[in-house]
Formats: sequence, structure tokens, C-alpha cells
Amino acid sequence: MKICVCPGSFDPITYGHLDIIKKAAKIFDRVIVLVVINPAKRPTFTVKERLEMINIATDDMPTVVSDCYDGLLVDYAKAVGACAIVKGLRGISDFEYEFQMALTNKKLCDSIETIFFNTSMYNMYLSSSVVRQVASFGGDISGLVPKKLHGIIKERFKRD
Ligand code: PNS
Repeated sequence: MKICVCPGSFDPITYGHLDIIKKAAKIFDRVIVLVVINPAKRPTFTVKERLEMINIATDDMPTVVSDCYDGLLVDYAKAVGACAIVKGLRGISDFEYEFQMALTNKKLCDSIETIFFNTSMYNMYLSSSVVRQVASFGGDISGLVPKKLHGIIKERFKRD
């Protein structure tokens, strides 16, 4: 069975992430969407909330599962028998950081490849921080995240 890991903060999951997850699901037998604790970030949503949103957003994708991890990505990938790490690239600005991570992960574990999928044109501008910013000002997040997540996201940014 070919397993890949799609890691990220997913704070929250967006249509951009889902685009990459769908592409991975066409190629791999199982896709693990992994919420990784990134010490450089202070997330808006708890890990539990992020996993819940991932599960809701991918509930029509039977080969996609979610998990969370606090540690080195390659250690998780090895432990679950994954052969690849899948990441999305929106443009040149993503490349330098992602390439550095891919080479570091390759150095740490030679048997796991990083595969990049390009983001579809209509998602190129999209990021979790864009979603958070629009939601924080009460803006329209349809087209950015699936409708079934709007309630959870709006609730977090609700102003009294
Ligand atoms: O969505 P993000 O925050 O850009 O995702 C970054 C993430 C979580 C995938 C990255 O920080 C990561 O892989 N962290 C785990 C720690 C690790 O394995 N580091 C070595 C590669 S540099």
C-alpha cells in the first residue's frame, strides 16, 4: 500500500490544501493529513479543532485520514510506513523554504521522497492566514474554505 503524508499547520484547512490533498489521493492508496506542531507559529485553532475541520472537509474522501504529531516529520512518516511527503507549491515564494525542508528531510531519511504538487491557479493567493484575516473582520470566506467549516471559523472570530 502506497501511503503519503500531507503535513502542515492547517490553521484552518483551506480549499488550497484540499486541492493538494485531492491530487495526492489520486496517486496514493492512503493520504494522511498531518497536523504538525510548528513551534514557530501560534495557532488560532486548537489541534482538536484543526483535526475536526480536516475530518469534516475530507469526509467524502474515503482514503484520506487525519492525525497530529509533535516531532520530526520523517520520524512520523517512517513509523506509519509512508513513502512520500506531499507538499503544495503556490509559487516561487514558497519554493525556497519548501526546498530547504525537502532537502533536510531527505538528509534525515533517504527512503522518503518529498513530492510537490502545484496549486491550481484559482487557489494561488490562498492561505490559512488569508482566511483568518478575512474572518477576523467578518468578511466573506466562501470560496476560501468549504461551507461546512464556516460555522466553526466564524464562531472563533465572533465579536461580542
Ligand atoms: O503549514 P506549515 O506551518 O508551513 O507546515 C510546516 C511543517 C509543520 C510541515 C514543518 O514545520 C515541519 O515539517 N515540522 C516538523 C519538524 C521537522 O520535521 N522539521 C525538519 C524539516 S526542516
